[in-house]
Amino acid sequence: MTTGISGRRQWPLPKQAVPGAPLLAVEDLSVRFRMPGGPSVKAVDGVSFGLDDGEALGIAGESGCGKTTTALSLVQLLPGNGRISAGSVKLFGIDLVPKTERQLARYRWREISIVFQGAMNALNPVRRIGEQIAEPIEVRLGQAREASRKRAGELLELVGIPRQRATAYPHELSGGMRQRAMIAMALACDPAIVIGDEPTTALDVMVQAQILKLLEQLRRDLGLSLILITHDLSVIAETCDRTMVMYAGRVAEEGPVRRVFTAPRHPYTAKLLSSFPNIRADRRTLGIIPGQPPDLRTPPPGCRFAPRCSEAMPQCTTEVPPEVRFADGVRVACHLFPPGTPGSLPGTPGRAAGAPRALAGGVS
Ligand SMILES: Nc1ncnc2c1ncn2[C@@H]1O[C@H](COP(=O)(O)OP(=O)(O)OP(=O)(O)O)[C@@H](O)[C@H]1O
Ligand code: SF4
Ligand SMILES: [Mg+2]
Repeated sequence: MTTGISGRRQWPLPKQAVPGAPLLAVEDLSVRFRMPGGPSVKAVDGVSFGLDDGEALGIAGESGCGKTTTALSLVQLLPGNGRISAGSVKLFGIDLVPKTERQLARYRWREISIVFQGAMNALNPVRRIGEQIAEPIEVRLGQAREASRKRAGELLELVGIPRQRATAYPHELSGGMRQRAMIAMALACDPAIVIGDEPTTALDVMVQAQILKLLEQLRRDLGLSLILITHDLSVIAETCDRTMVMYAGRVAEEGPVRRVFTAPRHPYTAKLLSSFPNIRADRRTLGIIPGQPPDLRTPPPGCRFAPRCSEAMPQCTTEVPPEVRFADGVRVACHLFPPGTPGSLPGTPGRAAGAPRALAGGVS
């Protein structure tokens, strides 16, 4: 709920914030990429999820399943050929989808910031890191140059870089330090939500662990709300409260990490988990998921996982499975779990069942 944030952060909430609204509620979001002379790519199709204040959500799924597109569409930083074709993205109850570019500037970095995978690509190589961190504070928050520089130094210290290194250029820092600098930049405007899109993928295992520990600590100390996108399920297991497993642009399963990872319901989640090495498990053969994800220009009708699913039934190839919500907080979209399955909650299949968790409490 927004009351927690408003008491904690330095800047007031946007004026249009709806009192009592959930921090983030994404509903039925669809994104299309236009392709020259052919059908568009249906990269995200009817995705719904929520994020509470101080919560960490991990988004998992094979390459190309729409994780990055979902994240970028929250602040409409999609590539030029991409557009949101349906749905809403409500931050503090304010729908960002109809906002103009000018209006969105109020929300990007100030409310939702993104840490990308390759810090070297995201940082400007010819500018000192201190200046790069100070810039959004000066430009977006209208702080004086001196105050912005001071704040940049504090942020560097917060992420474990001595403030004297503010004068360094990106190439003078190690990969781990650059990623820390990116996190400092993401925190510059005291945002409500930080999205990490594979923030540790390019780093070695030790540095990866340090960065994840840093995110954990920042989350605890600053009460950050995190969306963490990663191929590494162990990262989600260790860092997140909830996980959303995506397949071919749709949500397969979503719920508390412990529930989803220990008792997966969706066949895709089960396959994904069995294909992931677990250092604590007995020696065993890793599972593989046969076949490839579908071409999202012409996805199969019905369940998009059907061509690869060992449990597919005739209706799977013709009917889109509705999302069904369970009493343990998990929702799943699979014909093996039709509405009315023992343990499921009543609700309209599809839309209502897929509504973000925070909305279940009732928001105007
Ligand atoms: N600019 C674009 N034009 C056309 N198709 C695109 C574009 N960007 C992404 N796509 C397609 O949209 C789908 C979703 O891509 P996205 O990058 O969101 O996946 P992802 O889950 O983040 O994958 P990865 O794990 O590899 O980062 C893919 O099929 C991808 O090929
Ligand atoms: S809906 Fe059918 S094809 Fe899809 S995951 Fe469930 S059982 Fe498999
Ligand atoms: Mg991606």
